[in-house]
Amino acid sequence: MKFAKSIDPETGRLALASMLSEGSPLGALKILYSRIGRFFQIPLPAFHPFVVGGTQSVRKVLVTERDKVKWRNADPVTDLLRHGVLVTDGEEHDQYRKSMEPSLHQSKFNNYVQRMLASTDRVTSQWRDGQVVDMLVESRKIALLIVMDTLFSVDAWDNLPHIWTPILKAIEYISPGAWIIWRKVPRPGYKKHLKQLDDYLYGIISNRRADSPKADLFQHLIDAGLDDDRIRDQMLTMLIAGHDTSTALLAWTFYLLGSHPEVHKKLVRELDESIGANPPSTSGGWQPHLLDEIIKESLRLYPPIHIGNRIISEDMDFDGNCVPAGERLFYSIYLTHRDAENWEAPDSFHPKRFEHGRKQPPYAYIPFGGGPRSCIGAAFGQAEARLVIARLLQTFTFELVNKKVHAHMGATLEPRPGVMMRVSPRK
Ligand code: HEM
Repeated sequence: MKFAKSIDPETGRLALASMLSEGSPLGALKILYSRIGRFFQIPLPAFHPFVVGGTQSVRKVLVTERDKVKWRNADPVTDLLRHGVLVTDGEEHDQYRKSMEPSLHQSKFNNYVQRMLASTDRVTSQWRDGQVVDMLVESRKIALLIVMDTLFSVDAWDNLPHIWTPILKAIEYISPGAWIIWRKVPRPGYKKHLKQLDDYLYGIISNRRADSPKADLFQHLIDAGLDDDRIRDQMLTMLIAGHDTSTALLAWTFYLLGSHPEVHKKLVRELDESIGANPPSTSGGWQPHLLDEIIKESLRLYPPIHIGNRIISEDMDFDGNCVPAGERLFYSIYLTHRDAENWEAPDSFHPKRFEHGRKQPPYAYIPFGGGPRSCIGAAFGQAEARLVIARLLQTFTFELVNKKVHAHMGATLEPRPGVMMRVSPRK
């Protein structure tokens, strides 16, 4: 078996230059992918993960050889989420997943529609005519309210100012950063905020234990017999995984609409013709074709989870290249979504590529991962995006103010420095 090809000096120089000019490793990864191929190793001194992309490798990691990869590993995500469903393996994982799946099943969405729309309206009720808002921030408010309300029956509105910084700190804590290279360096500035977030969650758990049962995901965790610490782990997991992703999806979609006014206009027309002033729903024959295509294309171009992180427990072979047991492997959703072998003009925004009836090769489109550990909230996240975007476009006009936005590799792929839009209520 071969080991990873070394990076030639010219490619290394190009990758470094791209990283410095863009301020993000995304461009550098694209250069390595296009010049070296769908398998390479990042050559940093204390951090040398293997990176794979493309349909064959993704299928291996997610499905055919998934028994050779582990999710739990010694990194800040596991530190923060402890025994959350996202960072456990085997039976422990399956037990948590089984207890939470029913609440995220499509059959439950009718109960969520009104609450998702109400959370959206609550945030926009603060907007003034002509105000410039940052859709990254506004989307985060909406997504947080929705997760807390629908899954935990908690109205987080009054607590938003109190938990806002702790949540951003938790996200920063698990984002790529200097800790990757200098593992042992202390990371000051988090303890106080993470404790504040924990106090908030434990407070909710204790109130809920004293309260009567409710029909939500929280109740499933209680009924599964989890103690307070394990409930905290699942709550924090759902809170972070369930809102940071939706935040990025909503913000990127508004950025794409703002920078493609003709698509934006068509979408507003589609919504006006299909629902007019009626509330958007998840059922009832409403078929927002263009909206669904735009959401899919937004997820392709800017997949909120851009990379899947694994530790290899048994040697793996990728087209004759070896990844030895014990090494870290990333499967790249971003690079797979921009692979020219499967996508025509991969860097262009072209929602019609998702037109009804058009098919993509298996594992070319993986915004929610794949296999048995694909995103538990995939249907929820898509329904939420559909409802929130429709509601926002039904009630406000949006004009993009800052055209220069780049993709920042945080815990999710974020539009930085934000998506500034001038908003006005529709008459
Ligand atoms: C646009 C929205 C979303 C996107 C793009 C997204 C993306 C993903 C991806 C790619 C994975 C697999 C990661 C990997 O293979 O390493 C994943 C897993 C997961 N997601 Fe999502 N997600 C979204 C929304 C949500 C929501 C709304 C929730 C919860 C309410 C959620 C909870 C989770 C959890 C718990 C896992 C781990 C599942 C397991 O390991 O069994 N996600 N998500």
